[in-house]
Amino acid sequence: MQSTIFHTSLAYLPFRIHESPRFMFRKAAAARYRTVDSFLRFMSSSSVRPQQRYAFLSDLGLSQTTTQKGVCDGYSWYASGPKHTQINPATGEVIGTVEFGSGDDYERAVKAMLAAKEKWALTPAPVRGEVVRQIGQRIREKQHALGALVSAEMGKILPEGIGEVQEAVDICDFAVGLSRTLNGSVIPSERPGHFMMERWNPLQGCVGIISAFNFPCAVYFWNVALSLVCGNVNLWKPAETTSLVAIAFVKLVQDVLKESGHDPAVATLVCGHGKEIGEALIQDPRMELVSFTGSTAVGRHVNQVVAGRFGRALLELGGNNAMIIDQDADLDLAVRAALFGAVGTAGQRCTSLRRLFLHADVYEEVLGRLKQAYASVKIGDPLDSQTLCGPLHRPEGVKLFTTTVAKALEEGGKVLVGGQPWHGVEKGGMLSHGNFVQPTVVEVPATAKILEEEAFVPVMYVVKIKDLQEGVKMNNSVRQGLSSALFTSSPTSMFEWTGPTGSDCGIVNVNIGTSGAEIGGAFGGNKETGWGRESGSDAWKQYMRRSTCTINHSKELPLAQGINFGGGNENGGEGKIMD
Ligand code: UN1
Repeated sequence: MQSTIFHTSLAYLPFRIHESPRFMFRKAAAARYRTVDSFLRFMSSSSVRPQQRYAFLSDLGLSQTTTQKGVCDGYSWYASGPKHTQINPATGEVIGTVEFGSGDDYERAVKAMLAAKEKWALTPAPVRGEVVRQIGQRIREKQHALGALVSAEMGKILPEGIGEVQEAVDICDFAVGLSRTLNGSVIPSERPGHFMMERWNPLQGCVGIISAFNFPCAVYFWNVALSLVCGNVNLWKPAETTSLVAIAFVKLVQDVLKESGHDPAVATLVCGHGKEIGEALIQDPRMELVSFTGSTAVGRHVNQVVAGRFGRALLELGGNNAMIIDQDADLDLAVRAALFGAVGTAGQRCTSLRRLFLHADVYEEVLGRLKQAYASVKIGDPLDSQTLCGPLHRPEGVKLFTTTVAKALEEGGKVLVGGQPWHGVEKGGMLSHGNFVQPTVVEVPATAKILEEEAFVPVMYVVKIKDLQEGVKMNNSVRQGLSSALFTSSPTSMFEWTGPTGSDCGIVNVNIGTSGAEIGGAFGGNKETGWGRESGSDAWKQYMRRSTCTINHSKELPLAQGINFGGGNENGGEGKIMD
């Protein structure tokens, strides 16, 4: 009876209780992290107020209003440098404030690392691997919130933000396996009673990781997950504009290190300006390995400084990636891959597609399909589930876009799609403060100088080629050498493309696009891309010191190459040196 009254009284309400906005919101909030789809629906819902959209910040221990200290030496968070406002590039909203580190703050972090170094280096590698396993697990648990933060601070669409966090998880998994396979080798010795082996030891110094805004977490984990299992202590200097992402991840890493009883100073963080903190790091002789991701111009400086002090530089610099669509290609696959390559992350991946070489026989057909595909791309808020192209990360990106298109036109180019900045009116005008541009396709002559430059914007140049040989030549004709793709159904072409006279890039793909590499392979490029290799395969060797060890367990002292030095020392001989 009571329930009848309850139901009867409910009839007077404009909605049923389980559909009330507050109840619905709470229900949605609880469900929002359940699946990627439910999270995307939650973030896109028009009933979600702006502050509710940023609820993921508190899930990560961050806040829009409290200033966050940007330095962590493992024991405490502190900072005494300038304050930096973190901006959502889609809306111009402030999503947080970070206090940057000063030179003294950097020094304190390095000292803490040095103090933690020996114990960590002596911790068995599989034990270090177990720590990285737990870090990966912690990231998994917060994947959606972390993905949303990546998306809000960097500007990439939410599925790509979540995908980037997945890349961090994947490399942690990889590193766990690696922690049991940091294998050296046994080498046959030419001398009797001698044993030769290669041992991989942690570096003597520290590892400095300088990462870029476009992959604000994955690239850090490519480095730190491997470096931790290799037994090193690490200092991270993230891009200024993605400091919140760095803080959120380092908080998780710190929690795991502390809970598992390890010294938290093995993974330190110094947010700050490149000119101050980045410069101090590359000059610092205690930084044995400097891993730098960024522009070729800055990378050249990093390379010179680090080489000047005989440190090691691991460089991931500019790419100017090309795709060739040959006459025998599956055009459906090729067009989809080109679209993701050129428009994904608004053209701000190192691996983004910049140059598209089309065989004359398929030229018109591909362009027609591309125009159709581009027409379906929704530009907008990266946190909306329908959006495929978010904003550029910084307002300067819009200027770069405009000058890039203008230069292409000066060189005889013809805009086929887009070509203009984009001003959205959705979301009550909020997006009018965003750094949006239209994804753009420009047809250019093969001789255009602009084909040689990488611009970090969604502009793809299209060039007609007469055959595959011309395409390969054009692919290889630039100073950069990161990623490349060929679409073909010919096995001969596939093997030529991946062989000695094929692509000169670090990443050489067939029937997949230039971007979106898996973590299992070594990632990196040649020539002005810097020759670095990170992530999978044997990239781990760069984070270790190779010791070639020869152990004499005999009573003789035979010399290699059979040298007789002072008598009685044939190879395998009986003589002792100088006796
Ligand atoms: C970068 O753009 O700096 O291959 C890294 C990709 C991603 C990594 C890109 N897995 O596009």
